[in-house]
Amino acid sequence: MKHLALLTSGGDAPGMNAAIRAVVRAAHHYGLAVTGVLDGFDGLVEGRTRALGPRDVSNIIQRGGTLLRSARSEAFRTREGRDRAVAHLRAAGIDAVVVIGGNGSQTGAMTLHAESGMAVIGIASTIDNDLAGTDRTIGFDTACNTAMEAIDRLRDTASSHERLFFVEVMGRDAGFIALRTAIAGGAEYAMVPEARQDIDEVVRVLTQGAAGKGSSIVVVAEGDEQGGAFAIAQRVKERAPQFDIRVSVLGHLQRGGSPTVADRVLASRLGVGAVEHLREGRWGGVLGEVSGRLVLTPFAEAITGRKPAEGDLLRILPILAV
Ligand code: F6P
Repeated sequence: MKHLALLTSGGDAPGMNAAIRAVVRAAHHYGLAVTGVLDGFDGLVEGRTRALGPRDVSNIIQRGGTLLRSARSEAFRTREGRDRAVAHLRAAGIDAVVVIGGNGSQTGAMTLHAESGMAVIGIASTIDNDLAGTDRTIGFDTACNTAMEAIDRLRDTASSHERLFFVEVMGRDAGFIALRTAIAGGAEYAMVPEARQDIDEVVRVLTQGAAGKGSSIVVVAEGDEQGGAFAIAQRVKERAPQFDIRVSVLGHLQRGGSPTVADRVLASRLGVGAVEHLREGRWGGVLGEVSGRLVLTPFAEAITGRKPAEGDLLRILPILAV
């Protein structure tokens, strides 16, 4: 193995730059060349690339976003697009591909691996934390911290005005961000897709809990089956008009910002680990970290496997929120 291609794909996540840096510097350490592919799988289809050496990744470990930019590629969904991508890789003499991204991106990586037979390895990176085979994905911790800080600020104003806030956080179909930030932000309730909760129960909990409380915060996962925070707030208001309700949708704020220590270290370990796995002939899956050890999980399992929700957090939330 002599030459790697590296790309970031899907929703960007804080720590992607730290992972790029780690892959490039590990490759340098082992004497491998690195081609950075711009704009995710779109850049692979179009052949948009730049060579990356150790100095090209200076001063990026602390930066959010991705130096290589990212995209959700339509072109790569077609067989024609994928054939063009493989042709570019072969013409450039590339023998392995590292894909830094989440669920959709690793599906692309799996297809590339299956159709071309090339050495492809994924690095688990998405704020959603919705890949199996890793305790945490790169970006998740930073997104949780960002959401928690926002909730802290909202608590200040909620308390001043004795209001009930519904705060919507990202996470696609998973409630990992919602659950963690609800616990960390001292929320009164969390609505997540992993649990069946109805509006009457929310009203009951808030009404009972409101006794003696100046403010309440409900964290809503964007993927919750009851709808978004605005829809839920409206239905609560119809049942409990006494609440002075406000809604805050945190949105893409959660995707930016300087990565936390946890994300920088995770990205550094996974980046070096990916290069070392490739050198040892281990690929065909997504690299993650489980109980402090690097684990390579076959693509199909990492993508479709259901990582258990942190059910204990859901259980302890009402104990803490009295
Ligand atoms: O997968 C990351 C994520 O931020 C999800 O939490 C969210 O549902 C989605 O991406 C938003 O995608 P976009 O940036 O394309 O609007």
